[in-house]
Amino acid sequence: MNQDDLKRAVARAALDELVPGCVVGVGTGSTVDCFIDALAERASNHPGAISSSERSSARLRKAGIPVLGIDEALARGLPLPVYVDGADEIDGERRMIKGGGGALTREKIVASAFERFVCIVDASKRVERLGRFPLPVEVIPMASALVASRLRALGGQPVPRAGFVTDNGNHILDVAGLRIDDPEGLEARIGLWAGVVSVGLFAIAPATVVLVAGQDGVRRYA
Ligand code: A5P
Repeated sequence: MNQDDLKRAVARAALDELVPGCVVGVGTGSTVDCFIDALAERASNHPGAISSSERSSARLRKAGIPVLGIDEALARGLPLPVYVDGADEIDGERRMIKGGGGALTREKIVASAFERFVCIVDASKRVERLGRFPLPVEVIPMASALVASRLRALGGQPVPRAGFVTDNGNHILDVAGLRIDDPEGLEARIGLWAGVVSVGLFAIAPATVVLVAGQDGVRRYA
């Protein structure tokens, strides 16, 4: 199986994690695109989805799946059991680097609204230690140079993502070279800096369940 086959396999496996009758939380990325395609076949089982990006919202609507806002779901008292999303890296403690697609802030918001985070990846995303993938940090544009200088002081090499503006109108710094010994501590530390909107570390609130697609099938870790 090639990587696209693995993405489709893990996306389909995530359907078994969903709660029928409930709204589904939907992340962003190429693996999630496969999940939306699979979800479309069971659209009648779910009243709709809460999406983490304009990209996913458009794909959901095209698939005939209603897109709700968090405010609407809360106002209606709807249970929010399961959020499904990919990752750029994930370690053995289910901590992740995310934001390769630039949707990290909305992903963090939507994930936090749900009870369980089901992470869907192919085996290439599993790492012993986070940090090979450059860490995305979303910043308010006027703070970009200031935050970049602080990231350099931490040993990182921040590079502004060229020509990219997030769904929130902000910029992304992709930070290579960071030594991530303490993912939770680093997430908290960078997240407190003025001008930082979100850090692409998802360690303080890691995934609940990880589904990993490899040549020998889809494995589940919880
Ligand atoms: C989007 O901003 C990211 O957090 C994605 O979840 C991550 O980049 C995984 O994307 P792929 O499934 O395309 O690898």
